[in-house]
Amino acid sequence: MNNAENRLKEMLPLMRNPGTGSLLEINNGFLIDKVTGEGFPVRDGIPIILREDDVFGRNRKQQKGYNMGSYLYDLLYKFNIAKRWLSEIAGIMKVKSGDYILETSVGTGQQLLNMKNNGVEGHYFGNDISFGMLRKCRKNLKKWGIDAGLVQGNAEALPFGNELFDVVFHVGGFNFFNDKKKAVDEMIRVAKPGANLYIVDESDSTIREKQGGISKFISRFLPDPELFIPPIKLIPDKMLDIKEDKLLDGKFWIVSFQKPAIYPLS
Ligand SMILES: C[S@@+](CC[C@H](N)C(=O)[O-])C[C@H]1O[C@@H](n2cnc3c(N)ncnc32)[C@H](O)[C@@H]1O
Repeated sequence: MNNAENRLKEMLPLMRNPGTGSLLEINNGFLIDKVTGEGFPVRDGIPIILREDDVFGRNRKQQKGYNMGSYLYDLLYKFNIAKRWLSEIAGIMKVKSGDYILETSVGTGQQLLNMKNNGVEGHYFGNDISFGMLRKCRKNLKKWGIDAGLVQGNAEALPFGNELFDVVFHVGGFNFFNDKKKAVDEMIRVAKPGANLYIVDESDSTIREKQGGISKFISRFLPDPELFIPPIKLIPDKMLDIKEDKLLDGKFWIVSFQKPAIYPLS
């Protein structure tokens, strides 16, 4: 059995069919829902727990865009400003070695590298809607010596069981999700009681600056600034220590909170 198959076997007890909540088993290179028999393919060692029919609207646009951009994406991390941003994120997140850590929308794995560079040896997991990004992520992680369980899946219907992770975080895709409330609820569902959760994305400042600087005609084609509002109102009241901070002088926001010790899942 090769490394990828071993990794998959280890991940299986943590994974679920998001459509039914059922456990999965390996059969002839597919992951099969133990109850309904629905099959999910595994490509290049990455399970695809996503029905393409379920990817629509802005999620579909993101998937297509990131599939095309996956080869160039890492260039963004070559700029000094990205280093400052990563160190600000690391300064806020409470993560320690040994934690089970899930990054929803893991992209090419840059945030996991940041954690490793900050001395965190975690049990890393990541999902993304774009297979192109995940394939690049897999290559990167191998180069960086990071072991992580990757899966293609929607952040709004995570292919993981309940209460598994000590830290659940997301960076950079949230503003354009179809259903942000679902994505927040899913992060909470897979988080252990007492887990720390973080959501980071761009603020509306850049868009508003552009809107101010260009003609009304062109500004119609910019995304709606309302999409960039931090999701404080979507965090259930029962979560603890709900906070919003600014990163990079307000160009990004970070919303953090803790799941209480008792939080019944509906
Ligand atoms: C700006 S990138 C961020 C990647 C990585 N988190 C980082 O910080 O470098 C946004 C990522 O969100 C992913 N994404 C967008 N919508 C998604 C969804 N509904 N479910 C899962 N991933 C999604 C994209 O494919 C892309 O990889």
